[in-house]
Amino acid sequence: LSEDTSLPKARTIKLWQKDVPLGDAAKNVTGTRVKVFGRIHRLRVQKQATFLTLKDGYGFLQCVIAAGPLTSTYEALLFAQETSLFLYGELRTVPEGATAPDARELHVDYYEVYGRAPGDAEAITNIVASGQQDPWESDMLDKRHLVLRGEKASAVMKLRSILYESFIIQYKERRIAAVSPPAFVQTQVEGGSTLFKVPYYSEDAYLTQSSQLYLETCLPSMGDVYCIEKSFRAEKSLTRRHLSEYTHIEAELDAIDFDDLLTHIEDMICGVVDAVLADPAGKELVELLNPGFVKPQRPFKRMKYTDAIDWLNAQDPPVPNEFGEPHVFGDDIAEAAERKMVDTLNVPVLLTHFPAEVKAFYMKKDPQDLRVTESVDVLMPNVGEIVGGSMRMDKYEELMEAFKGKGLNPEPYYWYLDQRKYGSSPHGGYGLGLERFLAWLAHQHTVRTCCLYPRFMGRAKP
Ligand code: 4AD
Repeated sequence: LSEDTSLPKARTIKLWQKDVPLGDAAKNVTGTRVKVFGRIHRLRVQKQATFLTLKDGYGFLQCVIAAGPLTSTYEALLFAQETSLFLYGELRTVPEGATAPDARELHVDYYEVYGRAPGDAEAITNIVASGQQDPWESDMLDKRHLVLRGEKASAVMKLRSILYESFIIQYKERRIAAVSPPAFVQTQVEGGSTLFKVPYYSEDAYLTQSSQLYLETCLPSMGDVYCIEKSFRAEKSLTRRHLSEYTHIEAELDAIDFDDLLTHIEDMICGVVDAVLADPAGKELVELLNPGFVKPQRPFKRMKYTDAIDWLNAQDPPVPNEFGEPHVFGDDIAEAAERKMVDTLNVPVLLTHFPAEVKAFYMKKDPQDLRVTESVDVLMPNVGEIVGGSMRMDKYEELMEAFKGKGLNPEPYYWYLDQRKYGSSPHGGYGLGLERFLAWLAHQHTVRTCCLYPRFMGRAKP
């Protein structure tokens, strides 16, 4: 097989390029001759032609190879799903009444196969064709590298990329600066039970659970700051929203009060959603993955912890706590109860003022009611908590008391305590789990399909 050199030189394109002039056979218009690289996503061999859907990571292209010399080569006989190849040919609009991605098709005049794929059609077709997968099945998780080639799975990852970018844009618009705190740390933030301990030269270190404490140290030098880093939690339960390694979007804001914090969080969530939808690719992906998605209405519903307890007990039948008993003040609101509430209310909820004993050591107490903290969880229908935040204790003595209360040795936190010694400030911040936000936006059943290679108890491959 050789390329016909009398044909116009092919223009190399990627499938995101949608403005390539198309031919139209019915109108006798010649289209652009292009060269495109990709892999066979679908293959249909018919008497008069071989039809393939090519994918290049940016999009799909319907390709037609007329039966003849091009379809009778040895390589053509071996065409299989995932075979990679360069295709050359004329781009035309699809004939009237037919449909194809971007309403165009490639009339192939030459090709070069680059990488064959085994024709174990059944296995690969099930995995890749739709990207549909049962995220709990270990076989599918072992084959995540192939699952990712599927339409749905890759759509989720593409949306993730746009979402990630949108956060950065929103922070930049608000003049909040990016920093990059360390992953190896020697302090805990969210409790000792989920720390990963790692050998660190001649001492021990932990993988960070949250960059919050470090962000707080940046306020005097950089003003408001954010980071997008990995956080690590040795979660010992397998739920649909817990990972051992997740992408944590955290921000810390200086000289604010609790109401400012709540308003900022609401504003960021809405700003990010708007930014995703303002991107044509983002809009298309949301429509594909979450048809009928409606933007959250502002202002978000605000609910105090005590009102949530009352709400849970007022249901018929009442929603029990984790021990099967009616909720009382001081109970943690467990995942199931939280979910029941937010799914019933079916709107985002800013759940505030949690009791000090169920929350982390650093949270500032509410001056109106010292039993509770100026803390907030943002709950989303279908997912539950996506954000956790609070105002921070900013008085040295109070923080020392808090360490004592939680049985923590303050010594490794000397640098954190120094913030309260050298010109303290009223400040607060939050952390948002990117995978949970994406699970909500892309209507995914679990955070596992919202990361490239999920990590959770019992899984660290591929
Ligand atoms: O509520 P968390 O534990 O809060 C903190 O870590 C604060 N120090 C953050 C801060 O104020 N800067 O975690 C914040 C968010 C949760 O709301 C959730 O979205 C996500 O991080 N998250 C997890 N996501 C996936 N898997 C896990 N195991 C997660 N743990 C927390």
